[in-house]
Amino acid sequence: MKKVITFGTFDVFHVGHINILERAASYGDYLVVGVSSDDLNFSKKNRYPIYSQQDRMRIISSLKFVSDVFLEESLEKKLEYIQEHGASVLVMGDDWEGRFDWVKDACEVIYLPRTPSISTTEIIEVVRSIAK
Ligand code: CTP
Repeated sequence: MKKVITFGTFDVFHVGHINILERAASYGDYLVVGVSSDDLNFSKKNRYPIYSQQDRMRIISSLKFVSDVFLEESLEKKLEYIQEHGASVLVMGDDWEGRFDWVKDACEVIYLPRTPSISTTEIIEVVRSIAK
Protein backbone atom coordinates (compact mmCIF):
# COMPACT_ATOMS: atom_id res chain seq x y z
CA MET A 1 0.00 0.00 0.00
CA LYS A 2 1.35 3.44 -0.95
CA LYS A 3 1.04 5.88 1.94
CA VAL A 4 1.04 9.65 1.51
CA ILE A 5 1.66 12.09 4.37
CA THR A 6 0.96 15.80 4.64
CA PHE A 7 0.99 18.40 7.42
CA GLY A 8 -0.83 21.60 8.25
CA THR A 9 -2.81 23.59 10.78
CA PHE A 10 -6.11 23.51 8.84
CA ASP A 11 -7.64 26.20 11.06
CA VAL A 12 -10.98 27.72 9.96
CA PHE A 13 -11.31 24.96 7.36
CA HIS A 14 -11.67 26.22 3.77
CA VAL A 15 -11.73 25.00 0.15
CA GLY A 16 -7.93 25.41 -0.27
CA HIS A 17 -7.54 22.79 2.47
CA ILE A 18 -9.95 20.40 0.74
CA ASN A 19 -8.15 20.87 -2.59
CA ILE A 20 -4.71 20.03 -1.24
CA LEU A 21 -5.92 17.05 0.80
CA GLU A 22 -7.85 15.60 -2.14
CA ARG A 23 -4.87 16.05 -4.47
CA ALA A 24 -2.45 14.62 -1.86
CA ALA A 25 -4.67 11.52 -1.50
CA SER A 26 -4.53 10.94 -5.27
CA TYR A 27 -0.76 10.20 -5.02
CA GLY A 28 -1.36 6.95 -3.11
CA ASP A 29 -3.86 4.61 -1.46
CA TYR A 30 -3.78 5.99 2.07
CA LEU A 31 -3.51 9.59 3.28
CA VAL A 32 -2.25 10.39 6.77
CA VAL A 33 -2.43 13.99 7.96
CA GLY A 34 -0.30 15.58 10.68
CA VAL A 35 -2.40 18.35 12.22
CA SER A 36 -0.23 21.01 13.92
CA SER A 37 -0.85 21.28 17.65
CA ASP A 38 -2.09 24.52 19.20
CA ASP A 39 1.33 25.08 20.81
CA LEU A 40 3.22 24.42 17.55
CA ASN A 41 0.96 26.91 15.81
CA PHE A 42 1.65 29.50 18.50
CA SER A 43 5.39 29.02 18.06
CA LYS A 44 5.08 29.35 14.24
CA LYS A 45 2.54 32.18 13.89
CA ASN A 46 2.52 33.82 17.32
CA ARG A 47 -1.20 33.20 17.77
CA TYR A 48 -3.36 30.27 18.77
CA PRO A 49 -5.70 28.81 16.13
CA ILE A 50 -9.38 29.76 16.28
CA TYR A 51 -10.38 26.06 16.32
CA SER A 52 -8.82 23.80 18.97
CA GLN A 53 -6.52 20.97 17.94
CA GLN A 54 -9.21 18.44 18.94
CA ASP A 55 -11.76 20.08 16.64
CA ARG A 56 -9.27 20.50 13.77
CA MET A 57 -8.35 16.80 14.03
CA ARG A 58 -12.01 15.81 14.13
CA ILE A 59 -12.78 17.84 10.98
CA ILE A 60 -9.81 16.42 9.03
CA SER A 61 -10.46 12.82 10.12
CA SER A 62 -14.07 13.03 8.92
CA LEU A 63 -13.02 13.63 5.27
CA LYS A 64 -13.59 10.68 2.96
CA PHE A 65 -10.11 10.83 1.39
CA VAL A 66 -8.27 11.01 4.75
CA SER A 67 -7.35 7.63 6.28
CA ASP A 68 -5.56 8.67 9.47
CA VAL A 69 -4.80 11.79 11.50
CA PHE A 70 -2.22 12.51 14.21
CA LEU A 71 -1.03 15.54 16.16
CA GLU A 72 2.14 17.20 14.82
CA GLU A 73 3.97 18.60 17.84
CA SER A 74 7.30 19.64 16.32
CA LEU A 75 8.42 20.82 12.87
CA GLU A 76 11.80 19.13 13.37
CA LYS A 77 10.19 15.70 13.74
CA LYS A 78 9.04 15.47 10.08
CA LEU A 79 11.40 12.58 9.35
CA GLU A 80 10.31 10.64 12.46
CA TYR A 81 6.65 11.09 11.55
CA ILE A 82 7.29 9.95 7.96
CA GLN A 83 9.05 6.80 9.18
CA GLU A 84 6.59 6.10 11.98
CA HIS A 85 3.69 6.16 9.50
CA GLY A 86 5.54 4.32 6.72
CA ALA A 87 4.87 7.11 4.20
CA SER A 88 6.58 6.96 0.81
CA VAL A 89 5.34 10.37 -0.38
CA LEU A 90 5.31 13.74 1.42
CA VAL A 91 2.97 16.34 -0.11
CA MET A 92 3.12 20.01 0.90
CA GLY A 93 1.71 23.23 -0.53
CA ASP A 94 4.19 25.24 -2.57
CA ASP A 95 4.38 27.91 0.14
CA TRP A 96 6.80 25.32 1.61
CA GLU A 97 8.74 24.83 -1.69
CA GLY A 98 12.22 23.46 -0.99
CA ARG A 99 11.79 23.49 2.80
CA PHE A 100 11.45 19.71 3.12
CA ASP A 101 13.93 18.58 0.48
CA TRP A 102 16.09 17.27 3.35
CA VAL A 103 13.75 14.25 3.77
CA LYS A 104 14.17 13.18 0.12
CA ASP A 105 16.33 10.19 1.14
CA ALA A 106 13.38 8.82 3.11
CA CYS A 107 10.52 9.54 0.68
CA GLU A 108 9.41 11.36 -2.44
CA VAL A 109 8.65 15.06 -1.78
CA ILE A 110 5.95 16.81 -3.85
CA TYR A 111 4.98 20.49 -3.57
CA LEU A 112 1.55 21.30 -5.00
CA PRO A 113 0.37 24.76 -6.04
CA ARG A 114 -1.83 26.51 -3.49
CA THR A 115 -5.42 27.36 -4.31
CA PRO A 116 -5.33 31.08 -5.22
CA SER A 117 -6.99 33.85 -3.21
CA ILE A 118 -7.89 32.02 0.00
CA SER A 119 -6.17 31.49 3.34
CA THR A 120 -7.11 31.17 6.99
CA THR A 121 -5.32 34.43 7.75
CA GLU A 122 -7.32 36.26 5.08
CA ILE A 123 -10.65 34.83 6.29
CA ILE A 124 -9.87 35.97 9.85
CA GLU A 125 -8.97 39.46 8.59
CA VAL A 126 -12.16 39.74 6.53
CA VAL A 127 -14.32 38.66 9.47
CA ARG A 128 -12.49 41.11 11.77
CA SER A 129 -13.02 43.98 9.35
CA ILE A 130 -16.75 43.21 9.02
CA ALA A 131 -17.11 43.02 12.81
CA LYS A 132 -15.62 46.51 13.34
N1 CTP B 1 -3.17 25.43 1.26
C1 CTP B 1 -3.43 25.45 -0.11
N2 CTP B 1 -4.13 26.51 -0.67
C2 CTP B 1 -4.55 27.54 0.11
C3 CTP B 1 -4.30 27.54 1.50
C4 CTP B 1 -3.61 26.46 2.05
O1 CTP B 1 -3.03 24.53 -0.85
N3 CTP B 1 -5.19 28.54 -0.46
C5 CTP B 1 -2.42 24.32 1.82
C6 CTP B 1 -1.08 24.75 2.42
O2 CTP B 1 -0.11 24.89 1.39
C7 CTP B 1 -0.77 23.61 3.35
C8 CTP B 1 -2.18 23.18 3.84
O3 CTP B 1 -3.12 23.75 2.91
O4 CTP B 1 -0.15 22.53 2.66
C9 CTP B 1 -2.48 23.68 5.25
O5 CTP B 1 -2.22 25.06 5.25
P1 CTP B 1 -2.52 26.02 6.47
O6 CTP B 1 -1.29 26.79 6.80
O7 CTP B 1 -3.19 25.29 7.55
O8 CTP B 1 -3.62 27.00 5.78
P2 CTP B 1 -3.54 28.53 5.38
O9 CTP B 1 -4.87 28.91 4.85
O10 CTP B 1 -2.35 28.76 4.48
O11 CTP B 1 -3.32 29.20 6.80
P3 CTP B 1 -2.63 30.59 7.20
O12 CTP B 1 -3.29 31.68 6.45
O13 CTP B 1 -2.86 30.68 8.70
O14 CTP B 1 -1.15 30.44 6.87
